[in-house]
Amino acid sequence: MKIYSTKDYDAMSRKAADILASHVILKPDCVLGLATGSTPIGMYKQLIEWYNQGVLDFSLVHTVNLDEYRGLAPTHDQSYRYFMQHNLFDHVNVKPENTNVPNGLAADPEAECARYDQVIDSLGGTDVQVLGMGHNGHIGFNEPADHFPLGTHVVDLTDTTIDANARFFATRDDVPKQALTMGVKNIMQSRHILVVVSGADKAPIVKKAFFGPVTPQVPASILQLHPNVSIVADEAALSAL
Ligand code: F6R
Repeated sequence: MKIYSTKDYDAMSRKAADILASHVILKPDCVLGLATGSTPIGMYKQLIEWYNQGVLDFSLVHTVNLDEYRGLAPTHDQSYRYFMQHNLFDHVNVKPENTNVPNGLAADPEAECARYDQVIDSLGGTDVQVLGMGHNGHIGFNEPADHFPLGTHVVDLTDTTIDANARFFATRDDVPKQALTMGVKNIMQSRHILVVVSGADKAPIVKKAFFGPVTPQVPASILQLHPNVSIVADEAALSAL
């Protein structure tokens, strides 16, 4: 586990972009595992800037995203597909058919999860998986539980998550109640894990996840068992260490 400490959010974004860009440069047909959320937005902005400067070429890159809300269309502005289009895909030359996000509208979500696992397998797994981390240590939508879910699966969102997300929707009832997410096995099979964390509010969970016991009650703690993890965090997020 390598920890890169940066001064602030901008420097964290730049360092994380350096690492992701190095994958694209060294292996132009690499498979990038991507995340949504607020933390990686600055990293995606930096990648777009380098693409515009001619430094990066995404024409052979494939992407697989961690998760998607069940029931949201790709055009819904809170869907993770929309997020990815808006924050990265629409601005670089990645081929639309090479980008993968679970289909939140699939009539049979279990079959969609099985299909998604096959997509990841058929690509030979991910070269790097970007992860943000929730305050309770969740990765993807793998919330604290009594076991580590393995493959892509459907999750019931907790009341806390629904409450936290309600601000993005017209009413609380509009917040999706389920999501499709890669499991911990999908994540752990990535050849490199890139965790991005920012802000003092994440400091306690950084300490717990990376220096506490490995337990499904803190899903990110499993990353301690991965042989190639890079944590890029600003000083505030590392302030509890
Ligand atoms: C995103 C995802 C989530 C976020 C996590 C942190 O695809 O699966 O696990 O990475 O909730 O979110 P932020 O970055 O908004 O703090």
